[in-house]
Amino acid sequence: MMNNKIEKDGPKQVEQQQLEQQLTEDIVDPWNVQASSNKGIDYDKLIDRFGSSRIDDALLERFEKLTGQNPHHFLRRGIFFSHRDMHRILNLVEAGKKFFLYTGRGPSSDSMHVGHLIPFIMTKWLQDVFDVPLIIQMTDDEKYLWKDLKLEHCNNLAYENAKDIIAVGFDMSKTFIFSDVDFIGGEFYKNVLKVQKHVTFNQVKGIFGFDESSNIGKIMFPAIQAVPSFSSSFPFIFGGKKDIPCLIPCAIDQDPYFRMTRDVAPRLGFQKPALIHSTFFPALQGASSKMSASDENSSIFLTDTANQIKKKVNKYAFSGGKDTVEEHREKGGDCEVDVSFMYLRFFMEDDGRLEEIRQQYSSGQMLTGELKAELIQILQKMIAEHQERRKSVTDEIVKQYMMPRALNFTIKK
Ligand code: TRP
Repeated sequence: MMNNKIEKDGPKQVEQQQLEQQLTEDIVDPWNVQASSNKGIDYDKLIDRFGSSRIDDALLERFEKLTGQNPHHFLRRGIFFSHRDMHRILNLVEAGKKFFLYTGRGPSSDSMHVGHLIPFIMTKWLQDVFDVPLIIQMTDDEKYLWKDLKLEHCNNLAYENAKDIIAVGFDMSKTFIFSDVDFIGGEFYKNVLKVQKHVTFNQVKGIFGFDESSNIGKIMFPAIQAVPSFSSSFPFIFGGKKDIPCLIPCAIDQDPYFRMTRDVAPRLGFQKPALIHSTFFPALQGASSKMSASDENSSIFLTDTANQIKKKVNKYAFSGGKDTVEEHREKGGDCEVDVSFMYLRFFMEDDGRLEEIRQQYSSGQMLTGELKAELIQILQKMIAEHQERRKSVTDEIVKQYMMPRALNFTIKK
């Protein structure tokens, strides 16, 4: 259950309360993520609490068999660690049928950070290996309702952030991106109304922690995040078909929305969406909180220069190394709390090199400075390449991705 108090208060007060309370349990909901340990969230416990399933070896083997490819390292390394109904999706693939992908972003800041890319990188891989259409929802309405921001500003950010998302490399002929503010109407809105009529205030109170003083926009918003899961919301793509199954890659904090969606779907004659969930991307200061755009020093932004990246990693990335070189050589570093090592697990593709680093760092052979140098190089390259691709995404290209239109795929019956 969510904590009502936390939902209402600003991040500063929440931080204060948490310091005072000395967390004994991890907090994970769409607005707050706080671990009780600097090793990060206890994801096994979270799977139990949320009632999802672990992405296990058997599932990875099926991925491999059906795609003919080594599963993405996010899957192999447990960065995407949990799922709902993924076997149902793979059964369809096995039978030669199609599904579609749906993910989204709440555009609340100009500068996205590397953590924001994780679900999109995973989604691109899934789009490529399964050759399926993709819907991306920009929830400018959500950010307006929750944050102290002007509506115009949130709407503009939707288009700015779309450039960073497009720069991840989605196939335009198979991808539709939309802003809630500008798109909602027609069949989509009809589905919103159906969800609204079948979910009570009591239910959203229970799931999201709303209370009598929550603005009424918040109370109805979950219906808007729910309906892109239903193919009939996009008749220009799915030709009015109600039953094309949906797979949602997202960070696990978004799961409450989709628990609600899966609960209401059968009552409306829709299929439940399947999900794969990622872990959080840790803040530079340590894995007890996730990277947050509102805390500059916790984040590596997609707009950072090579020099800023180097400085931030060297200055802020929490180290599992020892205080002195002698002690470090003797006792070794702790990869389980070391943020630079955690980031390498996200972004270093070479499994062999990663394992080598783990061994050398844990044994004390490798020093923190050397570990950080390796990470800095990878981040600098990755972000420079992202900036290069983003530069070529013009307003005109954004317009094309965001135009309601038919996408290039066929549904086998
Ligand atoms: N609520 C999400 C956010 O604040 C945005 C979002 C909308 C989303 N639909 C989604 C995220 C589907 C993942 C999957 O970022």
